Amino acid sequence: MSKRDFFINRYKQLGWNFVNIRPNQAVRINRNNSEPKELLLRLKNSGVQLEQIPFLKNGYWVIQSKVSVGATAEYLLGFYSIQGAASQIPASLFTKIRGRKVLDACAAPGGKTVQLADLMGNTGLIVGLDVNKRRLRALSNHLERCHISNSIAYLLDARQSSVLNLKFDRILIDAPCSGNFTMDKNWFNRRTIKDIKQNAKLQRELLRNCANCLEDHGEIVYSTCSLEPEENELNMDWAVANLNLKIEKIDCYGEKGVINIFGKKLNNIVTRCRRIWPGKTQGFFVCKLRKKW
Ligand SMILES: C[S@@+](CC[C@H](N)C(=O)[O-])C[C@H]1O[C@@H](n2cnc3c(N)ncnc32)[C@H](O)[C@@H]1O
Repeated sequence: MSKRDFFINRYKQLGWNFVNIRPNQAVRINRNNSEPKELLLRLKNSGVQLEQIPFLKNGYWVIQSKVSVGATAEYLLGFYSIQGAASQIPASLFTKIRGRKVLDACAAPGGKTVQLADLMGNTGLIVGLDVNKRRLRALSNHLERCHISNSIAYLLDARQSSVLNLKFDRILIDAPCSGNFTMDKNWFNRRTIKDIKQNAKLQRELLRNCANCLEDHGEIVYSTCSLEPEENELNMDWAVANLNLKIEKIDCYGEKGVINIFGKKLNNIVTRCRRIWPGKTQGFFVCKLRKKW
């Protein structure tokens, strides 16, 4: 069996019939910097046509564009960010985020940090961490372009986040993961189960260490753009069994988390996660956890 068939067969067992798609391009309007009506008109006059994404508050599909959406004056002024539709979901799941202390544990290049800051109206504090210096530079540029004034970024492994000596009300773990085939033509040839298991181990370490920095009643949103259950449902099943966390109900685009993983039955509560198979958006997984109290 080819590696491609091996993975496609796994997806079938999880309930999805493989379709080779490329997701639509999407942008997110930074509401602190611009009014949608005015921006849509300005962009239309420059040959960029956007259409609101029904399941997102500030997300728009790029329907057509005569210019690169990353090179317009409006983009350079921070009026909008280029951000995949599914990637816009995690930050939107936190409740009452204004004025809070937020940890963005794996932050670079900052798509979600900027979104969090926008949702917070630049109030409170966001601490963004990443281990990759080059990507951290991109994060700083992103924050500057979008006029973010409540965020700082550190080159730090989030598994050492306790050295910050801070407790956070909200923590986003947009975890490093194996990605999926919609973003990489060679994904099936490049990836092995060994890589996936290694990522799952790192993700559990991130979950454990970040959970230690969470305030009582605090919320964690965990996300990946992987389709592999080892990095998703199996990690969430592990988190509820081993960390002081429970899974919250969420109301967002996507299907229920899968709880029958190749014959292994997981805790029913894992159905509260959301799994997004590739379609209009890239593949994605998201789960909201709260500290047990
Ligand atoms: C999925 S990307 C994050 C994307 C980002 N949240 C955004 O929306 O633009 C995962 C990031 O985790 C970073 N990373 C990997 N291991 C890490 C660790 N131990 N601590 C913190 N960041 C890590 C990678 O360098 C990468 O930038």
